Amino acid sequence: MEYVTLNNGLKMPILGFGVYQIPDLEECERVVSEAIQTGYRSIDTAQAYGNEAAVGNAVKKSGLPRSEFFITSKIWITNGGYEKAKASIDESLRLLQTDYLDLMLIHQPFNDYYGTYRAMEEAYDAGKLKAIGVSNFYPDRFIDIATYSRIKPMVNQVETHVFNQQSQAQEIMQEYGTQIESWGPFAEGKNDFFNNAVLKEIGGNHGKSVAQVALRYLIQRNVVVIPKTVSQERMTENFSVFDFALTDGEMAEIQSLDQKESLFFSHYDPETVKFLTSFGS
Ligand SMILES: NC(=O)c1ccc[n+]([C@@H]2O[C@H](COP(=O)([O-])OP(=O)(O)OC[C@H]3O[C@@H](n4cnc5c(N)ncnc54)[C@H](OP(=O)(O)O)[C@@H]3O)[C@@H](O)[C@H]2O)c1
Repeated sequence: MEYVTLNNGLKMPILGFGVYQIPDLEECERVVSEAIQTGYRSIDTAQAYGNEAAVGNAVKKSGLPRSEFFITSKIWITNGGYEKAKASIDESLRLLQTDYLDLMLIHQPFNDYYGTYRAMEEAYDAGKLKAIGVSNFYPDRFIDIATYSRIKPMVNQVETHVFNQQSQAQEIMQEYGTQIESWGPFAEGKNDFFNNAVLKEIGGNHGKSVAQVALRYLIQRNVVVIPKTVSQERMTENFSVFDFALTDGEMAEIQSLDQKESLFFSHYDPETVKFLTSFGS
């Protein structure tokens, strides 16, 4: 495994395992257990995924020391604001059956996220959170919170894949000492992702799949990746990305796939924001 070092010195695996859209607790526990057997030690969950308890079970049942894992969760919009966020951090710890999280993120930049951030800073000071950060903070809101927060965000998790590469956002994060983390490294298969001709051809040069090339590209750009799959075969495939390297020419070819816009949603679209804030507080 390769690691990135966050701005507080904490080491984070550059490759982890995401559990979005695995709401069934039994299935989630099974896939996380299989991921752990495959070698994954970093697991990305969220309050909104409803499966923190399943992740906690799988980690516990693995029998491995807690210190081997890097567990991330995220505070949902409805738990925004100091008091609710503070209580929700304790609830996440309870569900995950642990007395600390390696990383807690604000899931979306809505509701009273400054209050949320202060609750995370306090939990960080208390040792309940080893690192804190944000998610889906576009450059404007990211610069704002990175400027005015007492503890600079250690991570910003944003949609990042070959079609939306976030190069400018990554440069801005670097200015503030914040590590970029990709969600949706395969764009959830959108845009006929797994049949992309450029990625296929480059994969052919190395005996690797489209998925492996897509992950390797991000890793070589120092982007943390957390691909999701419910298939053990694909877990192994997605984990096998440290035994080859893309050439400068291949990196440039993949760079040219960048469309510089989301395949999912934009926070600059009022309808998206109305939808996200409709969850209430
Ligand atoms: N912060 C946020 O707002 C946010 C938003 C979205 C996601 N995330 C995080 O990022 C993680 C990853 O993103 P994601 O789950 O949205 O999507 P993703 O990892 O880009 O794509 C997952 C999809 O790709 C398929 N897949 C996985 N490996 C494959 C392979 N080797 N070959 C072919 N198909 C493959 C999976 O199918 P199978 O499962 O059937 O294999 C699934 O349909 C999430 O699980 C979550 O932890 C965060």
